[in-house]
Amino acid sequence: MILQSKFKNRDLLTLADYSGEEINLILDAAAELKEMKKNNIPTPYLQGKTLAMVFQKSSTRTRVSFEVGMYQLGGHAMFLSGSDLQLGRGETISDTAKVLSRFADGIMIRTYDQSDVEELAEHADIPVINGLTDQTHPCQILADLLTIREHKGRLAGLKLAYVGDGNNIAHSLLLGCSKVGMHVAVASPQGYMPDEKFVNLAKEACAQSGGRVEVLNDPVAAVADADAVVTDVWASMGQEEEFEQRAKVFAPYQVNSQLVAHAKADHIFLHCLPAHRGEEVTAEVIDGPRSVVWDEAENRLHVQKAILALLL
Ligand code: CP
Ligand code: NVA
Repeated sequence: MILQSKFKNRDLLTLADYSGEEINLILDAAAELKEMKKNNIPTPYLQGKTLAMVFQKSSTRTRVSFEVGMYQLGGHAMFLSGSDLQLGRGETISDTAKVLSRFADGIMIRTYDQSDVEELAEHADIPVINGLTDQTHPCQILADLLTIREHKGRLAGLKLAYVGDGNNIAHSLLLGCSKVGMHVAVASPQGYMPDEKFVNLAKEACAQSGGRVEVLNDPVAAVADADAVVTDVWASMGQEEEFEQRAKVFAPYQVNSQLVAHAKADHIFLHCLPAHRGEEVTAEVIDGPRSVVWDEAENRLHVQKAILALLL
């Protein structure tokens, strides 16, 4: 198992803080842990350690994969709902960080503002892992990269097209794909384009990695000759009230058979899930032969075990 000391005690707040080489090392560790699990080889790297998991939004995959992952590594995970914690009654993020640091060995948090995760990390003495914010979702994109690498045998030089809302998934894909030398094309409607900050960070990463970034309005141009096609919900958690308005704007961005016909014949389809069939993706595509969404969901477990074993 590749347990490199350079990862110990670091936070994972955004992929912007990790180099392409480090991302590849995390994927290597994840692949190794996955293989060990398939061969029933024990992985007691976190014996006696506890992960505090703070959730201020709903979750299926993130909660279950982190909890199962800690168990498989010989440690323990504790689910802490934001509304049950004193945090929900006004205790500060910094006081919460200091207290959790006296009990646990790491914190995973899913919340709204990226700045809250940063504040938590600033005041915690233990590693903080971002389990999704409004702006980013690094663990998901590491799982996506592992899935693409498994199906395509490599990452650098491949084209990934993301079609839809310029949201947390789009931002982290821009960061992750650019760092590992991929060509990432994002197609979003005007007014819902990814934040310039992430586009610029991705462009800077490309200068080093040889990757390429395109931010477009035309889904057909984005998907043209893509090796991987990705989409996500039209209204993210916290945007439920905007759904009707968004459904009108995003209708031309649905990932359906006509759109994926422009991708390479052997392209794969990814979606972080949960999905809404008939909205951002048709059942034909997500349940079709090019879809790898179940491998992608499974890989959340393996990459997060790697992150936990490396950081905690
Ligand atoms: N993809 C993802 O993060 O799923 P959950 O919201 O179920 O955790
Ligand atoms: N963009 C979605 C991702 C869910 C995993 C959301 O933030 O709700």
